[in-house]
Amino acid sequence: MSDSSKNKPAQNIQWGGRFTEATDAFVQVFTASVDFDQKMAEQDINGSIAHATMLAEVGVLTQEEKTTIIEGLEAIRLEIRNGEFEWSVALEDVHMNIEARLTQRIGITGKKLHTGRSRNDQVATDIRLYLRDAIDAILCELTRLQTGLVDLAEREADTIMPGFTHLQTAQPVTFGHHILAWNEMLFRDYERLVDCRKRVNRMPLGSAALAGTTYPIDRSITARLLGFDEICENSLDGVSDRDFAIEFCSAAALAMTHMSRFSEELVLWASAQFDFVDLPDRFCTGSSIMPQKKNPDVPELVRGKTGRVNGHLISLLTLMKSQCLAYNKDNQEDKEPLFDTVDTLFNCLRAYADMMPAIQVKKDNMREAARRGFSTATDLADYLVKKGVAFRDSHEIVGKAVGYGVAQKKDLAEMSLQELQQFSDIITDDVFQVLTLEGSVNARNHLGGTAPAQVRAAASRARAKISARG
Ligand code: ARG
Repeated sequence: MSDSSKNKPAQNIQWGGRFTEATDAFVQVFTASVDFDQKMAEQDINGSIAHATMLAEVGVLTQEEKTTIIEGLEAIRLEIRNGEFEWSVALEDVHMNIEARLTQRIGITGKKLHTGRSRNDQVATDIRLYLRDAIDAILCELTRLQTGLVDLAEREADTIMPGFTHLQTAQPVTFGHHILAWNEMLFRDYERLVDCRKRVNRMPLGSAALAGTTYPIDRSITARLLGFDEICENSLDGVSDRDFAIEFCSAAALAMTHMSRFSEELVLWASAQFDFVDLPDRFCTGSSIMPQKKNPDVPELVRGKTGRVNGHLISLLTLMKSQCLAYNKDNQEDKEPLFDTVDTLFNCLRAYADMMPAIQVKKDNMREAARRGFSTATDLADYLVKKGVAFRDSHEIVGKAVGYGVAQKKDLAEMSLQELQQFSDIITDDVFQVLTLEGSVNARNHLGGTAPAQVRAAASRARAKISARG
């Protein structure tokens, strides 16, 4: 040991060369990311294998060196999968942990893996690979949930419930139509994620630390090996921007916002006051004090989890704001919000996809609720218009009839012809057809309307769209 090295404290083996003292013990823990970024170990190994393969192809590594490196990395992959890998905070992050272990396993050749790259392009590549896989898994759950919704909508195409505005009874709708409204939201969420995936699937590897590298790398080889559609054009941008993660979190926040709306409705519908649906026991919990309780925990939790996803979007936007080029350590803070967004959205979709086929629809209660609340008042107004009354006048006439009904505690369909004729003598016997719930929903028989025939047609279009997915 030389004199100078004898006096030096233990250094980080990967970057300690220029340091004269060891990292403060707390700072080491404070700056480490290995506790959470080990989640990207598989992607890190895949990225390294592609990088080594490319380096051999352009002659920077020999074929033997490449083979030794790949075998070492595959062995490490197994150690990690089997839970045998010893993660070390002293080695800071997933990248240095794996690289150090490689050198430990295969010796000096391991030290050549990092030729022509930096942790800056390495981490940016890993996150993109991780997020691409995550989006694919989320899209599968979305498809599963949407299939469940279409099944439910088809089964309940004729089921009539009150439609609401301001949570006040508005007009009768079919339950299938209501469910397909949810499904439309999810179609857009799906599109947004597919679109976001295009920008996620671009490769920063080859940007190196920030300016590119002096080695004769061929980025098209690594891009092909890793399944990237495109290569990041600019090395400074490649290592520094996390807009793809922000975009994902934004799409996720919207998807969760939609799910929170479904949740709110399910919670209302499962209450004794609405009593429109019964959620399967296995998706509910009881109360430790009130024996009668069956709480809709899954929808409530999904509704609540929307908050953290919205928060993660704001975290990432704020993280990126004002960052000068190129990589800054700030970006290490991108992972926890991103990972949690992925897990939360995936788990919520999974719970809903599992729950959807088991929801029991209480048709009679829905129908009874639709029958109350003068839900066919607009139908009566339209009936008068078709007989020549101007809409504003018919609105007034029906308003008076409703006022009478409120006082008499009678819905429009329960009034006699004579009672109805007090408000307009144009009304004849054919009015009762118009005032039925079936008459009301069947009359809205155009694309996008609530008529059962339209719901069936819309459900089959939705099914075709879902099955056309790759
Ligand atoms: N753990 C780091 C991160 O997540 C990896 C990149 C570190 N690069 C650096 N130059 N310190 O961002």
